[in-house]
Amino acid sequence: MNIQDRIKQLIELREEAKKGGGEKRIEAQHNKGKHTARERIEMLLDEGSFEEYDMFVTHRCRDFGLDKQHYLSDGVITGHGTIDGRVVYLYAFDFTVFGGSLSKTVAEKICKVMDQAMKVGAPVIGINDSGGARIQEGVLSLAGYADIFQRNILASGLIPQISAIFGPCAGGAVYSPALTDFIIMSEQNSYMFVTGPRVTKMVTGERISTDDLGGAKVHGTKSGVSHFIAEDEEEGLLIIRKLLSYLPQNNLEDPFITECTDPIDRKEDMLNEIIPDNPNQPYDVKEVIESIVDYGEFLEVHRNFARNIVVGFAKFNGMPVGMVANQPIYLAGVLDIDASRKAARFVRFCDAFNIPLVTLVDVPGFLPGSAQEYGGIIAHGAKLMFAYGEATVPKITVTLRKSYGGAHCVMSSKQLHGDLNYAWPTAEIAVMGPQGAIEILEGKKLAEMEDPDEQKAYVAKKEDEYREKFANPYEAARYGFIDDVIEPRNTRFRIIRALQTLATKKEVHPMKKHSNIPL
Ligand code: HXC
Repeated sequence: MNIQDRIKQLIELREEAKKGGGEKRIEAQHNKGKHTARERIEMLLDEGSFEEYDMFVTHRCRDFGLDKQHYLSDGVITGHGTIDGRVVYLYAFDFTVFGGSLSKTVAEKICKVMDQAMKVGAPVIGINDSGGARIQEGVLSLAGYADIFQRNILASGLIPQISAIFGPCAGGAVYSPALTDFIIMSEQNSYMFVTGPRVTKMVTGERISTDDLGGAKVHGTKSGVSHFIAEDEEEGLLIIRKLLSYLPQNNLEDPFITECTDPIDRKEDMLNEIIPDNPNQPYDVKEVIESIVDYGEFLEVHRNFARNIVVGFAKFNGMPVGMVANQPIYLAGVLDIDASRKAARFVRFCDAFNIPLVTLVDVPGFLPGSAQEYGGIIAHGAKLMFAYGEATVPKITVTLRKSYGGAHCVMSSKQLHGDLNYAWPTAEIAVMGPQGAIEILEGKKLAEMEDPDEQKAYVAKKEDEYREKFANPYEAARYGFIDDVIEPRNTRFRIIRALQTLATKKEVHPMKKHSNIPL
């Protein structure tokens, strides 16, 4: 073969690889409303930036007739490219090749990009669409999965790891995405479960559809396994691009600061009126968030899961932050098991990647009841406490209204090393709300009163006294637990100045192997 023939051969081999499992299977993929692995990569990355690895890899299995079926690249497309000019590594399962199932060679390809991403210090993105373990390869496939899991674990906290689920993801295969930082599921075609509907019926007798067991809606609302739900693949890929814009490349870098033309001293007069006079009346805390962050842009994480707490990314004067806010319009913003888990994981992610935390507090306490106690609210609430107390990134807290009891301590309080703790004049920082307090303190006396009107008037008087004394920010400010009481409309400016001041913050905790967060 002369050089021209060799180049021709290379071009032909590349063309063959690009056909994956062949035209028919590509057509079948399109007919399901799905894109192929390479199409997804093209849509995700900056144009022309993809460099593919291991195009000529083929599986090595000789059983079940597989020695006669080879597809170049096997069941996954891997490589690197750029998003907004910044390097990312990625792998995308190719469903057209043996249903994107995981062979030993598929696992090796994935491990190769993960190893490189860790060395280079760049995010890894995995696009999942796979029938799971390559059945013909048996334990080799299981070992391949475990090799990936181990890398997911080593990469955790070192580089951001993002998983998109655009097709099946079942059995043990779910654990790689579950070990990553964020999961994005598309509403169509995607599902995740450890055990599918057929086995579920066999073992438990429960009849349930694929969607009801592990569809995007279930994981975006009930289980919280998925952080983002996208209408379709295009939107899912856009979410990945947006998400990365708030993140650093790795744990040794700071998040990427962008230019901002939104005035830092923009006053929001409506914030001076947003808290209703009646403390039991709700308001939407997302309105507060959107009015103080740059351009009102907020990338909410877990939008439909545990809606009584809001978490997500935003920027202040171009600086990315993680926002955490109790949401009074759902369950009065109470902390329950799901809200604690959701916020704890988010706080830990931000801390791992040097993203400052801005916390807006309006929390009436922890949700009471046997369901919460039996479900372990003690341990789950402790997770959030632990996450805040362990976080060494700049922590800015603004108490908007209620901040009661244990929940007060949890929500980035001064004692959990909150760096700057502000309160609005509407803040109520106390052991508990006036109603509960009077019931406990005056219970005996109230029981002795026979006239209900007298009882009511007495309760109202005592509640007023309590509110006057404790349900305000000044009692806490008197002890220095609140650094300043600020006018609501100045909140944006005060947060930006705090972030600028805290940019060089260093806080070092005692050396240890690792902490023991109450998992
Ligand atoms: C090898 C597989 C495969 C697999 C699918 N294919 N799954 N080949 N190993 N796990 C092949 C099919 O034979 C078919 O080949 C092609 O992929 C497309 O599959 P279809 O069934 O035609 O597609 P569809 O109807 O869309 O169904 C998709 C599917 C189904 C729901 C994923 O294929 C399926 O149920 N597959 C088996 C899933 C499974 O049980 N996997 C093992 C789970 S245990 P042709 O040649 O016809 O195109 C596991 C353990 C992991 O994963 C443990 C990790 C620790």
